[in-house]
Amino acid sequence: MTDRYAVFGNPIGHSRSPRIHSLFAAQTEQDISYQAILAAQDGFAAAVSAFIATSEGTARGANVTVPFKEEAFRLATRLTPRAEAAGAVNTLSFDGGAISGDNTDGAGLVRDLKYNLGCDPAGRRILLLGAGGAARGVILPLLLENPAELVIANRTEEAAARLALEFSRLPGCAIEIKPDSSSYPGLAGRQFDLVINATSAGLSGAVLPTPTSIFAPRCVACEMVYGRETPFMQQARATGARVADGLGMLVEQAAEAFFVWRGVRPRTAPVLAALRSTS
Ligand code: ATR
Repeated sequence: MTDRYAVFGNPIGHSRSPRIHSLFAAQTEQDISYQAILAAQDGFAAAVSAFIATSEGTARGANVTVPFKEEAFRLATRLTPRAEAAGAVNTLSFDGGAISGDNTDGAGLVRDLKYNLGCDPAGRRILLLGAGGAARGVILPLLLENPAELVIANRTEEAAARLALEFSRLPGCAIEIKPDSSSYPGLAGRQFDLVINATSAGLSGAVLPTPTSIFAPRCVACEMVYGRETPFMQQARATGARVADGLGMLVEQAAEAFFVWRGVRPRTAPVLAALRSTS
């Protein structure tokens, strides 16, 4: 019997996940199906239950996207440490009555940086823009790569300060963690080797009031939004930074989810190339 997977979101029409996972399945010869499911704003848990109930024992897992990642966190009956730290779940695994919650977004970003962009976070001065769910999800995986520093900056400075404090006290973590926080104007005079935009500003075309001096020579600027050239990407490009959009991270978080479910790691380069050639 074919194992069934799905992605739940609202909206979901433009999700690239079904295509990505069907390319992974073909490449690794896994017998799976993967569909996009639109859940009502107040109907996420019901949609997941219906998917499991109608799959006659073949529902194995699901991805979760905006706006349900926090709800998926609450729905899970057990959580991985990285999901716990993220406070959000993008990957569910169904096993009997248990629902495991994981978060592959941060691992996806780190793999994109290291293997697609040739930018190992180790020893780099990192600036993370934003303090919402997207930013929170990548902090622990970035810190575990041992950067020289991690500064979190946000329009609402208190949110950045809260996140920095929370992660500096991460229980049970063996490494010394010193995330720092700032407002955008407070970044004046500071330089970074890697700048990651985890705000949603690019979706509305809004310009972040960050000083252009934040981009150190040979800086890598990574935007989480994909499918468009955002003002952040334009600003970074104008300073000579190497610029990437969020498509690589999208494919890598999907590959990590595929690995969680199937125990097989698909090659991402051909899938990323296929998506880029048709976008
Ligand atoms: P997500 O889950 O995508 O992170 P979110 O939790 O709503 O969504 O967070 C959105 C992030 O983008 C926040 O950091 C937000 O800044 P504030 O905390 O100050 O609201 C940031 N953001 C969104 N639009 C922005 C804009 N026009 N300018 C600057 N920051 C913006």
